[in-house]
Amino acid sequence: MIVFLVIFLAALLCPSVHSEESSEKWCYHEPSCNFSTWPQTYPQSCNGSRQSPINIVTASVQENPSLSSFNFTGFDDNSTFKSITNTGESVVVGLDDHKMSVQGGDLPGLYNTKQFHIHWGNGSSSPGSEHTVDGKRYSMELHIVNVHSKYNGSVDAALAAKDSTGVAVLGFFIEGTNEQNKPKSWDILTSFLTNISSPASSTLNVMNQTTMDSLLEGVNRTKYYRYQGSLTIPDCTEAVIWTVFKDPIKVSQDLINRFSTTTFFKGSPSVLMTNIFRGVQPLNDRVVTSQPSAAPTHTTSIITLLLLSSLCWL
Ligand SMILES: *[C@@H]1O[C@H](CO)[C@@H](O)[C@H](O)[C@H]1NC(C)=O
Ligand SMILES: *[C@@H]1O[C@H](CO)[C@@H](O)[C@H](O)[C@H]1NC(C)=O
Ligand SMILES: *[C@@H]1O[C@H](CO)[C@@H](O)[C@H](O)[C@H]1NC(C)=O
Ligand SMILES: *[C@@H]1O[C@H](CO)[C@@H](O)[C@H](O)[C@H]1NC(C)=O
Ligand SMILES: *[C@@H]1O[C@H](CO)[C@@H](O)[C@H](O)[C@H]1NC(C)=O
Ligand SMILES: *[C@@H]1O[C@H](CO)[C@@H](O)[C@H](O)[C@H]1NC(C)=O
Ligand SMILES: *[C@@H]1O[C@H](CO)[C@@H](O)[C@H](O)[C@H]1NC(C)=O
Ligand SMILES: *[C@@H]1O[C@H](CO)[C@@H](O)[C@H](O)[C@H]1NC(C)=O
Ligand SMILES: *[C@@H]1O[C@H](CO)[C@@H](O)[C@H](O)[C@H]1NC(C)=O
Ligand SMILES: [Zn+2]
Repeated sequence: MIVFLVIFLAALLCPSVHSEESSEKWCYHEPSCNFSTWPQTYPQSCNGSRQSPINIVTASVQENPSLSSFNFTGFDDNSTFKSITNTGESVVVGLDDHKMSVQGGDLPGLYNTKQFHIHWGNGSSSPGSEHTVDGKRYSMELHIVNVHSKYNGSVDAALAAKDSTGVAVLGFFIEGTNEQNKPKSWDILTSFLTNISSPASSTLNVMNQTTMDSLLEGVNRTKYYRYQGSLTIPDCTEAVIWTVFKDPIKVSQDLINRFSTTTFFKGSPSVLMTNIFRGVQPLNDRVVTSQPSAAPTHTTSIITLLLLSSLCWL
């Protein structure tokens, strides 16, 4: 922890570290490096054919009965949030991957849960989710990043292996409500933002206050879309099994507004962090799948009724 603090202070104080950071070749907010330039800057990967995010066209989603429910381990444990960091491109909560994991949901094995981060627009009136559904963009999107257990907790190892199933990201839409400071878990999470308003700042006192389950309250996690895609930031490696849950998390607009009014961008420390999402990418030959809808059983019961009524005529 002391080492961490020293590195952190060095990052704040040393101009050399600063210039290294601002030499990063991508950004969200400047024409010279925003996401429309990423395919040129990172041609090996951001120019690929299986990129994320996408617009999900519900009429084209195919049914896949093997999209079973997930087992979430440690999502109810309040000692798993290790830190919250303003990376200058997002806000990231580091998770204890020895305690948290995900399996089931037709994933090929067990995945260790590393972190979650959030994409947003400019307050609740200017939405900033990455995925869209039939063109609808939600207020924000939360991404839980998990890495296949064979990589021993190293996302970098999974990306380096160019393993298309190396990483599993769980995406949750966030929709605004007119309530105040609800739910409690999001009030707690957003209360840390004032401590990390500067890029490259981090706070460690986030333990034992809330759980992953509390942040995901109200989402039925048996209903989701599935497709094969990429990281949504450079270098856009195509190593992600995407799960995008259908139900949004409902969060008061005042809490959503805290994100775009508190934190500042890397490289432009006086510019508020807004519109931190990548635009949707071509689906190409990919297919989005989901659980079979309840409709078939409905149809079955109608057929049964018709059969029964035809029996009456005999
Ligand atoms: C990105 O920059 C290009 C110019 O390079 C500009 O046309 C476009 O509007 C910008 N897009 C966003 C989302 O800022
Ligand atoms: C991206 O790929 C397409 C098709 O493979 C190609 O036409 C285009 O020139 C590439 N763009 C860049 C910037 O590499
Ligand atoms: C999920 O957990 C249940 C109960 O512990 C177990 O029976 C089942 O095999 C698990 N499923 C997967 C895919 O791990
Ligand atoms: C975000 O919204 C605020 C207040 O509505 C406005 O002043 C600001 O210009 C917006 N920023 C961007 C980047 O659109
Ligand atoms: C993960 O750990 C196991 C056992 O310690 C080792 O055999 C394996 O090579 C490691 N894999 C990676 C990708 O580091
Ligand atoms: C946030 O910053 C305030 C003032 O600097 C400090 O008193 C408080 O302990 C910090 N909270 C956390 C969780 O780091
Ligand atoms: C959090 O709770 C765990 C177990 O309940 C305890 O061991 C740990 O010291 C607590 N951490 C903090 C920072 O309070
Ligand atoms: C955190 O979890 C521990 C153990 O389950 C519990 O005793 C404690 O009250 C919880 N803390 C909060 C703030 O919910
Ligand atoms: C979640 O959705 C499934 C499928 O529609 C349904 O059977 C189940 O009862 C729902 N669970 C909850 C807690 O609402
Ligand atoms: Zn993300």
